[in-house]
Amino acid sequence: MKKIFTVSILLVLWCYGCSKKQNTGLVTNKAMVVSARIEASQIGSDIMKKGGNAFDAMVATELSLAVAYPFAGNLGGGGFMVYRLENGVAGSLDFREKAPMAATKNMYVDSLGNVIPNLSTLGAKAIGVPGTIAGLLEAHEKYGKLPLREVIQPVINLAVKGVVVTKKQANTLKNYKDIIVQTSGDSTYFAKEIKEGDTLKYPKLAATLKIIQQQGKDGFYKGKVAKSLVNLIQKHGGLITKEDLAAYQAKWRKPITFNYKNLHIISMAPPSSGGITLEEIMKMIAPYPIEKYGHNSTKTIQVITEAERRAYADRNYFLGDPDFVHIPTDTLTNDEYLKKRMHNFSFEKATPSTAVSHGNIQIVESNETTHFSIVDQYGNAISVTTTLNGAYGCKLYSDDLGFFLNNEMDDFSSKPGVPNMFGLTGAEANSIAPQKRMLSSMTPTIVEKDGKLAMVVGTPGGSTIITSVLQTILNVYDFNMGMQQAVDAARFHHQWLPDEVMFEPNGFSKNTLDTLKSKGYYINENNSPIIGKVDAILRLDNQKLEAGADKRGDDAAAGF
Ligand code: DON
Repeated sequence: MKKIFTVSILLVLWCYGCSKKQNTGLVTNKAMVVSARIEASQIGSDIMKKGGNAFDAMVATELSLAVAYPFAGNLGGGGFMVYRLENGVAGSLDFREKAPMAATKNMYVDSLGNVIPNLSTLGAKAIGVPGTIAGLLEAHEKYGKLPLREVIQPVINLAVKGVVVTKKQANTLKNYKDIIVQTSGDSTYFAKEIKEGDTLKYPKLAATLKIIQQQGKDGFYKGKVAKSLVNLIQKHGGLITKEDLAAYQAKWRKPITFNYKNLHIISMAPPSSGGITLEEIMKMIAPYPIEKYGHNSTKTIQVITEAERRAYADRNYFLGDPDFVHIPTDTLTNDEYLKKRMHNFSFEKATPSTAVSHGNIQIVESNETTHFSIVDQYGNAISVTTTLNGAYGCKLYSDDLGFFLNNEMDDFSSKPGVPNMFGLTGAEANSIAPQKRMLSSMTPTIVEKDGKLAMVVGTPGGSTIITSVLQTILNVYDFNMGMQQAVDAARFHHQWLPDEVMFEPNGFSKNTLDTLKSKGYYINENNSPIIGKVDAILRLDNQKLEAGADKRGDDAAAGF
C-alpha cells in the first residue's frame, strides 16, 4: 500500500514536472522578439543578430506584421511604444491616430441624435490619420543603430517572397471576405479565395516600403503614397486630406509609473487609458492577499472584478487625449482615493455597476490590434501595441499601396453613454474634435523588479487589453507561474458596463461560476470569446529570457 502511495506521489510530481515543462516558452540567452507571427519575430531577431538594437527590431517586426499579419499589423493604423533602456531610463512614444481636421463632434450622429450604425467602424469615414510610420521612424531616428535601409530590406524581401497562410488566418480571411469586398470592391486583393497553405505575395506593399526606405517619413505622409491614400479615402467618402497626413506627428510622452508590491510598473500614458487604469486596478487589489486566495479562486476573481469595475468607471468618464482635456491623474491614482473607492466592496455580494459611478473628483476642465515584446542583447526592452482597431480595420484595402486602413474613429465616444464596438461607454473627455487622439486601451508595459528589467508584456483585445495585461503580471508574481504558463492561463474580464463578467470557455470550474452567480455576479457564458492574445518576455533568475507567445493565436518567439 505504502509503495503504491509513494509511486503515485512520484507519478503526480513527474506529471506536474512535465506539464510545467511543456508550458515553458522559448528560452534564449540574450535577445528575443515575441509577436503574432514567426516571420515577424524571426526578422526582428535577425536584425538584432546583425548588431541592431531593440528599436531597429521594432521597425522590422512591426512592418513584417503588416506583411504577415494584415489582420492587425499595419502601415494604416497607429499604436504606442513603451521602452526601458539598458541604463534604466524609461519613456514612451505615442503614434496614435488622430481625427481628421474636418472631423466634427457629431459626425456619427443623425439629425434625431441617434448614432448611425457602422459609420464609425466600416468604410472610409471611420479612418483616423495613421500614425504607425511616423512612430516607427521617430523611434528609429532617436534610438536606432542600423541604417533604415538595412532594417526595412528584409521586410521588402518578405513581401516579395510572400507569406504562407496559416489555418487560423485562412478562417479569419474567409469570415471577413464578404465585408472586405463590400467595402473595397470585388477586384480587391482579398476578393479571391484564400486557403490554408497558400502563399500571399505583396508586390504593391513592397513598393510602398521601398519608397519609405528611401524617403523616410515623407515617403508616407507626403508625395506619391500620400496622394494615392488621400484619393482612395476621399473616393470612399472619408475626410482625410493631404494636410492631415502632412501634419501628423508622433509624440514622446512621459509613461505612467507606479509600484505594486515589490514591482515597479512602467506603462502607457493617455491618450491610452492603459497605464492609469492598470495603476488604479493594481493599487485597489494590492491590500488583498490574492496570492493566498489562489489563482482564479472565487475570492481572487471578486477582488479583481470589483477593482476593475471601479477603475473602468473612472476610465470612461475622465480619460481622453491629454492635449485636449485635463486628466486628474494624481487624484485617480492616489492611494487614499483608491482605498475609498473599494470601501463598499464586500465578499458577500457583488457591487452592482449602477451603484458605482466615476469617482467624485473636483476638476477644472479646459473644457484587431497586435502586440510585440522585444529585449535586445544590450539590455534594452521595448513593448509595442499597434492596431487597425477592428479586424482588417475599416475593411478598406489600398490595392495600390498594399495595406488596410484603420477604423480607429470608433474609439472616440460618438455620443456620451452610447457604447462603442467594445461596449465601452465614453463621456465628454473622449468626444470627437479635429486633430484629437481617440482614447485607447492599449497597455504596452514593462515591469521592473529590484530595479532590474523583469518583464515586457502587452496584448490586443480592445477593452480586455488592460485586464489581460493585469492577469499576466499577477500570474507570474502573485501566483508563481512561468511566462508561457502565465500567458496561457484562462482569463476573465469585467469593465463596469455592461455589468457582467466574461470568462474564457472551459477555463473555470462550474463551482466557481455558481458561487459567483449566487453572490450576484452576472456571468456571460454564452458569448465568451478568447480574451487577449498576450506576447511577453520574462527575465528569469538566471538572466535568460523566457517567451510567452499566446497559444490562442499563431504567436511565436525567436531569439538567440
Ligand atoms: O486602442 C484601442 O483600445 C483599440 N483600438 C484596440 C483594438 C483591439 O485591441 C482589437 N483587437 N482585438
